[in-house]
Amino acid sequence: MTTALITGATSGLGAAFARRLARDGHHLVLVARDKDRLWEQATRLHDLHGVEASVLKADLATEDGISAVEDRLADREHPVDLLINNAGFGNKGTYLDVPMQDELTMLKVHCEAVLRLTSAGAASMRERGRGGVVNVASVAAFVPRGTYGASKAWVVQFTQGAAKDLAGSGVRLMALCPGFVRTEFHERAGMDAGSVPRWMWLDADAVVAAAMKDLVRGRNLSIPDARYKTLMGAARLLPRELLSKASSTTGRRFGPR
Ligand SMILES: NC(=O)c1ccc[n+]([C@@H]2O[C@H](COP(=O)([O-])OP(=O)(O)OC[C@H]3O[C@@H](n4cnc5c(N)ncnc54)[C@H](OP(=O)(O)O)[C@@H]3O)[C@@H](O)[C@H]2O)c1
Repeated sequence: MTTALITGATSGLGAAFARRLARDGHHLVLVARDKDRLWEQATRLHDLHGVEASVLKADLATEDGISAVEDRLADREHPVDLLINNAGFGNKGTYLDVPMQDELTMLKVHCEAVLRLTSAGAASMRERGRGGVVNVASVAAFVPRGTYGASKAWVVQFTQGAAKDLAGSGVRLMALCPGFVRTEFHERAGMDAGSVPRWMWLDADAVVAAAMKDLVRGRNLSIPDARYKTLMGAARLLPRELLSKASSTTGRRFGPR
């Protein structure tokens, strides 16, 4: 049996990855900050699917948290075959309203942690000649959308570059770029997502199903759902100014500070 390590496994897309991978028979290592929720999830998936599910409490905004997960990924006696770098969040507010420390924390979780965990996991996978890494980015990577969009653009560029460098090694890397997904993300970020049209919302389990299909096909970029494939195709043709206006406002109304 293979083992998958998922960051941000307490809710939303991470929890959906955990459900899907447990159903497929992978042992799990679940990573996030809320240990009680992780144990709840691990116990449920163990009971339902008979897989081993362990818990690693780590805050990926800290050196200790990133190091702890790096160490787990570097453990050659208990190899991780599939790494899902999913942990992430949105900040409350637009540029200059967000405290600098929160901007830097975002870069730590979305970029530094993803770089270091991908590298720890992929190095070990390359020695074994097989493995996969899914880095959860966003369609925000393709449009102007503050530090969030910029950090996710880095995830896409980094992942696609690393995928090319590791071609032929047996290690697959893929950036996953969902549109709006119903999770805890918007509430946690204090966003009023009411302005997002209903048709733009995706279901977390459906996003994960599309991602797993694309990973098997050997894609290094996955944009789940035909609606978003079409939107992103159209975005390439739109004047930059128009795109900038639409993307920097949609779903970015924030509640009182
Ligand atoms: N929802 C969307 O519309 C959407 C769209 C495109 C991309 N995404 C991306 O999808 C990913 C998952 O987000 P989601 O929508 O599923 O949101 P979510 O429901 O809020 O889940 C976020 C997860 O990340 C974990 N997390 C946050 N900060 C962390 C930290 N410092 N250290 C460790 N874990 C941390 C949280 O767990 P703890 O609080 O327990 O640590 C939680 O499990 C993110 O990278 C997000 O940018 C989301």
